[in-house]
Amino acid sequence: MDERLATGVEGFDSLVQGGFPEGTVNLVGGPAGSGKSLFCLHFCHYGARFRDEPSMYVALEETKASLSRVLRTFGMNAENLERTGRFLMIDLGELRVSGPEGSPIGFRELQEFLAPSLKSARAKRLVIDSLSAIGLHYPTPGEFRERLFAFSRFLRDQDVTTLLIAESADSSGFAAHGVEEFIADSFVHLGLEEVKGELRRTLTVRKMRFTKHDTTKHPMYITETGLVVAADEKVV
Ligand SMILES: Nc1ncnc2c1ncn2[C@@H]1O[C@H](COP(=O)(O)OP(=O)(O)OP(=O)(O)O)[C@@H](O)[C@H]1O
Ligand SMILES: [Mg+2]
Repeated sequence: MDERLATGVEGFDSLVQGGFPEGTVNLVGGPAGSGKSLFCLHFCHYGARFRDEPSMYVALEETKASLSRVLRTFGMNAENLERTGRFLMIDLGELRVSGPEGSPIGFRELQEFLAPSLKSARAKRLVIDSLSAIGLHYPTPGEFRERLFAFSRFLRDQDVTTLLIAESADSSGFAAHGVEEFIADSFVHLGLEEVKGELRRTLTVRKMRFTKHDTTKHPMYITETGLVVAADEKVV
C-alpha cells in the first residue's frame, strides 16, 4: 500500500525507506550550487527511465538547454525519454503574468498550467524549480504562505509525487520564506559548507512524514554519474 518513489540517487533511498511516499509534496532546500536541481533531475530521470513513471520538470529559473546539458554531463541521456513523452522539461521562466514587463507567474497561473498538463502527460513525478522564483510574485510572506498552502493542497489532489525546490540563503536550513518546510511532507536539506578553505557538500533528511527516516548529516559528492550520498558516513 505505502508506495515509495525511489530517486535513484546513490545512497539516498535507503535513508527514507526506499524513497518519497507516493502522493506527497516534498521540499528540497539548500543554498545556491548545493545540488538541488541535480537531485531533482535524478528523481525525474529515474522515474522515467526505470519505473515507467512519466516525469515533468518545470523550470522557472533555468533553461531547458541548461537542464539537458546537466543531464548529459552526468550520463543521463534524456532525449529518447523526451521524445516518447516520459520526461517533460518545461521552461516557464519567460512567462509573465501580463506581458513581458509583468511580474513572474504565481501559484495560480502555475496551477492553471499544471492541471491539464499533468493529466495529459499522465505524470507521476513533478518538480518545480523553484519556489523562490514564484516568491517574487508575492509582495508579502503572508500572501506567499497562503497561496503555497492552496497550491500544495492542489498537488495532493493530483495523482503525482512532487519535489519543490527552495533556495535558502544561509546554512541554517530554513528556506527563504521560513514556511515551506512546515507545509511540505518532507524536507531534504542539501548543505554547502566551507571547511578549511574547501567546500563540502552534505545531505540531511530533516523531516519526512509517514517515514522512519535517518537523521544524520551525510557527506554528499558529485561524481561522473551524478550525486552520491555517503549513507554510512556522518559529518561531524
Ligand atoms: N561536472 C561536474 N562535476 C562536478 N561538479 C559539478 C559538475 N557540474 C556541476 N557541478 C557542481 O554542481 C553545482 C550545481 O548544482 P545544481 O545546479 O544542482 O545546484 P542548485 O542547488 O540547483 O543551484 P542553484 O541554486 O544555483 O540553482 C555546481 O555549482 C558545481 O559545484
Ligand atoms: Mg538549481
